[in-house]
Amino acid sequence: MSPHFARRVLRLLPVAVFCFQAAPALASDVPYVPTPMNVVDAMLGLGAVGPGDFLIDLGSGDGRIPIRAATRYGVRGFGVDLDDGLVRQARAAAEKAGVGDRVAFEARNLFDTDLGRATVITAYLLNSVNLRLRPQLFAQLKPGTRIVTHDFHFGDWQPDQKITIDVPDKAYGPPRSDIMLWVIPADFSGVWQWSLPGAGGDLRHEAQLSQKFQVLYGRASAGGRPVLLADARIRGDAVSFTVGDAAGLQRYSGRISGDTISGEVSLPGGGSPQAWQAKRIKSGRMDVSAAGRGGLHVVAAGNSTKEQ
Ligand SMILES: C[S@@+](CC[C@H](N)C(=O)[O-])C[C@H]1O[C@@H](n2cnc3c(N)ncnc32)[C@H](O)[C@@H]1O
Repeated sequence: MSPHFARRVLRLLPVAVFCFQAAPALASDVPYVPTPMNVVDAMLGLGAVGPGDFLIDLGSGDGRIPIRAATRYGVRGFGVDLDDGLVRQARAAAEKAGVGDRVAFEARNLFDTDLGRATVITAYLLNSVNLRLRPQLFAQLKPGTRIVTHDFHFGDWQPDQKITIDVPDKAYGPPRSDIMLWVIPADFSGVWQWSLPGAGGDLRHEAQLSQKFQVLYGRASAGGRPVLLADARIRGDAVSFTVGDAAGLQRYSGRISGDTISGEVSLPGGGSPQAWQAKRIKSGRMDVSAAGRGGLHVVAAGNSTKEQ
């Protein structure tokens, strides 16, 4: 080492030592509290978890959720946790349960994790952490992906389903748990057109739809005249709604693929449902922002849940 280089190293040494000491350990967003096993089973049940699923547990602790999903339903997947010790514990537990080849555990930040492979996400985090996570879920998850949380929610994104169960051995709070299911909705917003055979020939229908999470807002017309649009529901890539005019109610259901909805319609007067297809002639944009825009008539609404 040249004397010049040695002097530079000596000058920089205190800075390097300070930086090393001051480098913060990654702070956990949520303390470790395990989900009681009866809640784990209820979460997997509400999420309708099955053999074809790929499950990711965000903040996986001792790995109990992915391990139970693998042993009971043959699911594949992984868990991530900032706590290296818990990750090692989870890996050992997976090996012991004989599912070490189906579920993996990684020491990493859930916010830096690619969630794109998931068909089911599980989480026992906090409301504030879930809210920070929400944009990542909408950016990375496919429509139809189920998200199951224990006790904590996603703010103004209402769950599609919620159950409450008794938990006699709960570590804190009252001896019960809320378990909630959210399904990532496809984006149905925009202007849609379709035709139905009418007495005087084909009748052009049009629906102008806006969407906030899984809730549809909008209006419809038939032959240029306003008609009732009601009872709209979205579940993943599936939609259903009712259109009503003087002739009666038409009940539509279908699945979206790109700018096409294909399905069937039940017409007034009974008879078997007919095939039906709608085309999107103008795209919209699903609103997943924290602050609502509102303004249009609400035609569908989810269940409500209280703040914890
Ligand atoms: C309440 S525990 C839940 C453990 C497990 N999912 C269960 O339900 O039994 C939350 C876990 O999240 C982990 N965690 C907190 N912040 C995290 C982050 N940013 N990235 C990954 N894991 C995190 C904690 O270390 C803790 O193990």
